[in-house]
Amino acid sequence: MTSLQALNFASHAHAGAVSPDLIFAQPAVYEAAPLIQQMEAEIDQLSGQLAQTFEELNLIHNLACNLDSVGDRNTLCRDTLRKLAVCLPVETVAIVWLEQNSRVGSAVDVVQAGEPMDGALLRRIAEELGSEEAVVANYALRSAPEIDRAISVRLEGGLRSSSRMLAIGSPSGAELGTIEVQLMQSVASILQAHLAIDDQFAEMRSMFAGTVLSLVSAVDAKDPYTCGHSNRVSQLAEMLADDLGYDTHARETVRMAGLLHDIGKIGVPDAILGKPGRLTDEEFDQMKKHPVLGYGILHGIRQFEPILPGVRHHHESWDGRGYPDGLAGEEIPHMARILAVADAFDAMSSDRPYRTGMPLARVEKIFREGRGQQWDAEVVDCLLNDRERMEQFIQQRDSLGTQLPSFDLWSGHRIGSK
Ligand SMILES: [Fe+2]
Ligand SMILES: [Fe+2]
Repeated sequence: MTSLQALNFASHAHAGAVSPDLIFAQPAVYEAAPLIQQMEAEIDQLSGQLAQTFEELNLIHNLACNLDSVGDRNTLCRDTLRKLAVCLPVETVAIVWLEQNSRVGSAVDVVQAGEPMDGALLRRIAEELGSEEAVVANYALRSAPEIDRAISVRLEGGLRSSSRMLAIGSPSGAELGTIEVQLMQSVASILQAHLAIDDQFAEMRSMFAGTVLSLVSAVDAKDPYTCGHSNRVSQLAEMLADDLGYDTHARETVRMAGLLHDIGKIGVPDAILGKPGRLTDEEFDQMKKHPVLGYGILHGIRQFEPILPGVRHHHESWDGRGYPDGLAGEEIPHMARILAVADAFDAMSSDRPYRTGMPLARVEKIFREGRGQQWDAEVVDCLLNDRERMEQFIQQRDSLGTQLPSFDLWSGHRIGSK
């Protein structure tokens, strides 16, 4: 019940016994009615503005709180626009990249929310309203005469891209102005911070990938007879891990461990690594140091921590007669057991200076004999169960060794994460 309705009700309630005071009051009530109506309208308007302000604050709060959740840039932009669309009295909000947008994903140059609009049209509008920090157009646009309400604010999208954030249309027909511009600029600032973090993360991941590949190349360069070995072990170990039920994240760890499992060979003398014949006991003792040397090389780098068990223990033996720590059975980290099988398969099936690669039948026989003795029986069974894969692996060994691995999923150990 409004204030005016309350007063009317009070006057009717006393109609049976009319008070002289009320008789005098009634004309005053009717005189005040327009004022009261105006006040009610103002209160309604204020309530609306308060609700709007709350939505805007909520939006800013939500965006700011998600600063540390760096994810897919398109998703981030789309989510932000969806939230912004709720707060703006417009039909469509969009982000249009005007320059090279290398980080947002291939062929994506427009992200939008609200009423769908043609991407090419949005791009023309962004270009027309792209000159200033912020532009409000309450007039028919040259690029789209049917549109007479639009806002465009600058959005720096990262190291090599710049873009415009657009708000288009006004369902109520009301002009757009400062309030809408300020909200869009606040949102654009927060989004820019997100995108800058994402850029830095991508740069660091790229450096990380470059470092890993350099390390792998360094091992290959020292040991030309086993060129591509790290890459092949990495790929086969990942396949075995997949068969053994490892999830995506764990498979990535196995793959990385495969790439770097022999990194310690950097510390083994070239004369031993390149010796075209069987090693003496002393030389073999030197060679046996490489798992511990590899562990030492990677030990201080936090991003490599998950792969350390694989690097250190890939020459342990199920019966405890391996090295460096003489672990036995299930004491051996599971990742290392997988690497041991992949490592041995590649070593046996590859040519060496003093022998050609063994035929697959002989490799299978050795694995069957060493099942539960040298290697984890479950992992060996996993290898032997897929003969076609082993044949393909041997046929394609040269190309497999040179395929550069991708690190797209290595975000589980991303730089800066805990
Ligand atoms: Fe090794
Ligand atoms: Fe190896």
